Amino acid sequence: MSTTVTSSRLAGFDEAALARFGFTEEDRRDARRVIERVIDDPDAIGQVERMAEALRAGVGAFDNPTDPYAVIEAAVRERADRQWGVGVLPMLALLASAEEVAAFHAGRGIDPEISRASLADLGQQAWVHRRTFDAFGLHTYGWMRVAWSGALYWLGRLQFNLTRWGADDGGDWVISTHIPESGPLTPEAVADSFGRARIFFARHFGDYPTRLFHCNSWLLDPQLVEVLPGTSNMVRFQQLWQLRGEGHQADGDAIFFVFRRRGEVDHESLPQDTTLQREIVAKLADGGHWYCWHGVIDQDQFPPVEPARTAQVEVGQA
Ligand SMILES: CC(C)(COP(=O)(O)OP(=O)(O)OC[C@H]1O[C@@H](n2cnc3c(N)ncnc32)[C@H](O)[C@@H]1OP(=O)(O)O)[C@@H](O)C(=O)NCCC(=O)NCCS
Repeated sequence: MSTTVTSSRLAGFDEAALARFGFTEEDRRDARRVIERVIDDPDAIGQVERMAEALRAGVGAFDNPTDPYAVIEAAVRERADRQWGVGVLPMLALLASAEEVAAFHAGRGIDPEISRASLADLGQQAWVHRRTFDAFGLHTYGWMRVAWSGALYWLGRLQFNLTRWGADDGGDWVISTHIPESGPLTPEAVADSFGRARIFFARHFGDYPTRLFHCNSWLLDPQLVEVLPGTSNMVRFQQLWQLRGEGHQADGDAIFFVFRRRGEVDHESLPQDTTLQREIVAKLADGGHWYCWHGVIDQDQFPPVEPARTAQVEVGQA
């Protein structure tokens, strides 16, 4: 494809189109401004085109999703991040290649609304970026490659992707579980999502048979159960999983997911409004750590739920 096609696709992202991709009003405004400037800059649009091509070529390759930014030399990436904002050019490459991902979804017979909701993780991630850095951007562009490979689906409360897990990731296919920040993690919503996922993947990805749900998350750290009440949604979520292997230290994840901060953080500066916020900081102040764990659930544990229609995803809201 040419830079002309990529430019014209980007120019087509008006308010309504960006809203469908989950962008908040503020991010829509910034996205449109940056698109106007990038399509007038031959160097920048050339980089966007290279990344978009890599993403298009990676659709359907669940085993090793393409990191769009990896096709750009490190020094050029750094310069681009300084000039346009962190991850802004890969964000545009994701937009410019979304059509191919949606076509892949359609080819698998996936409901257009589930397709749309799944791609709306892009706007969700831009929203997370703004909350973390108070700027327009996408520092989690590496994560987006999973969705753009066609492996990730947002089904109700949870997101799921097909991946291999175990034996250094050359193991069996599993349905891996992700928890976007979009409201409380109630047991009912969780059971509904697991039930939908069973039907969804069996129906649309019967050529990738799976038996287990998988999760790799700081939410599976058993230490959370020690500090949160038994009625907490996180505790009840964790109790569903059988842990596997060893935990690996993930203080940065706990800080990021609870406080939306990255890098060196002065713990004294963090808000202490909720039980979780207080407990996260107290453990670190005591010299303790938080850990990510892998866990599995036998899919039979959840009755299948016919995916009527995925509820409209509102960024940051249930
Ligand atoms: C997972 C998540 C939805 C759980 O929220 P929840 O359903 O409200 O959780 P709980 O019912 O267990 O909450 C227990 C306590 O922790 C607090 N809490 C939970 N998640 C919190 C968060 N991300 N930030 C601050 N406080 C939080 C609650 O307010 C409550 O405290 P309170 O009793 O003082 O009000 C929420 O933590 C979240 O959105 N996290 C970000 C996404 C994430 O971590 N994904 C996993 C990536 S690997």
